[in-house]
Order: sequence, then C-alpha cells, then structure tokens
Amino acid sequence: MIRIGVLISGNGTNLQAILDACREGRIDGEVVVVISDRADAYGLERARRAGVEAIHVDPGDYPTRTAFDRALAELLLARNVDLVCLAGYMRLVRKPMLTAFPNRILNIHPSLLPAFPGLDAQGQALAYGVKVAGCTVHFVNEGMDEGPIILQAAVPVLEDDTHETLRARIQVEEHRIYPRAVQLFAEGRLRIEGRRVRILDQPQKGDS
Ligand code: GAR
Repeated sequence: MIRIGVLISGNGTNLQAILDACREGRIDGEVVVVISDRADAYGLERARRAGVEAIHVDPGDYPTRTAFDRALAELLLARNVDLVCLAGYMRLVRKPMLTAFPNRILNIHPSLLPAFPGLDAQGQALAYGVKVAGCTVHFVNEGMDEGPIILQAAVPVLEDDTHETLRARIQVEEHRIYPRAVQLFAEGRLRIEGRRVRILDQPQKGDS
C-alpha cells in the first residue's frame, strides 16, 4: 500500500480518477495529501470530499521557485509520501522535489510526447494538423515533459474537432492510463533503463 501525494493547479479530474481507483482497489495505495498552487483549484474540493487533506501553498509566499519547491517537499516528506503524482499541475518541478523524490514523481501530459510539450498541447496538436493525438504518463525529471515514458494512449483527431472535443477525448484516456501507471509503480513493476521504462511481469526485489 503506497502513500500518494497529488499536486494540482485546477479542476482535478485526474486526481479524481486516482482517488476513485484507490477507493475501488484498482490502485494499491492511498492519497494522503493534495496540494495546489492555486487557492481556487476545484481539485482541493474533490480532495476534501474524499476525506483527504487538501492544502493550498501560495508560491507568492516564497522568495524563489526553489524555496517554494523546498516547502512542497517538506510537506510531502512529513506525510511519508512514497509517490508524487502531478495531475494538471502547471509548474516545473525543481531540484528540492527531484532530490526528495528521485524517480518517484509522475506526470500526465495531454500529448503523445515528445510531440507538443508545454502549454496547450491540444491546441498545438490541432494547429499542427496531426491526425493522431493522445496522452502520456512519464517520470518527471528536470526537463519539461521529457522524463522516461511509462504509458501512452492514442486518440484520433476528427475532422470537426475543436479544442474542447479533442481535450475531452484525450481526457477519457488520461483517466484510464494514469491510475494504471500508478498501480504499476505500486506493484514495483517499473524499471527505468536510460530513457526506457521496462514494465515487468513480476515485481523485482529492490525495484520501486
Ligand atoms: C490534463 O489534461 C493534463 O494532462 C494537463 O492538464 C489537464 C488537467 O486536467 N496537464 C498538462 O498540460 C501538464 N503539462 P485535470 O485538472 O482535470 O486533471
């Protein structure tokens, strides 16, 4: 049973998918804290409704981005978090977090990485004219949306797609693959080999 901390900035539908999967036993883990960098993030309300500690940490209260990330790391470490899930968290993760949770931070991004990193991936996909879009769950490193890839899912881009319809189609897949990736982590079945993440049939001793 792993202890999960989730970082959010907004609506929190991916957080909800993880909360639901924990409750239903599809993730062998428990969300113990949800932290938002925005006071008005609806995900904080989702956390409270699920009986999970919900904290707003205001980046404006810290002199530097590094100091902010140090505060986040301390909050998460104090709660004995094993895994940090970024779920619509719209900031780069800095050294204090990466050092506190080496290979223990996951992110979901609404594109088939390495295509369209950064903001508004769906808009980038539409503007580029790709015919296939999707989402990626990956380990977080110091780069932007560039850590080793765990799972991806593809969706078609349809002729009459708008930003909203494409976003909704991608989100269905996000809510499916993010809990699966978290469960693979919980089972100790992810082994990072360079850029590749090997998904093991059986958990290996010493892996996490
Ligand atoms: C999700 O689509 C997620 O992939 C994206 O923000 C959305 C958050 O939705 N994340 C990024 O773009 C990170 N670069 P949610 O708050 O409803 O889970």
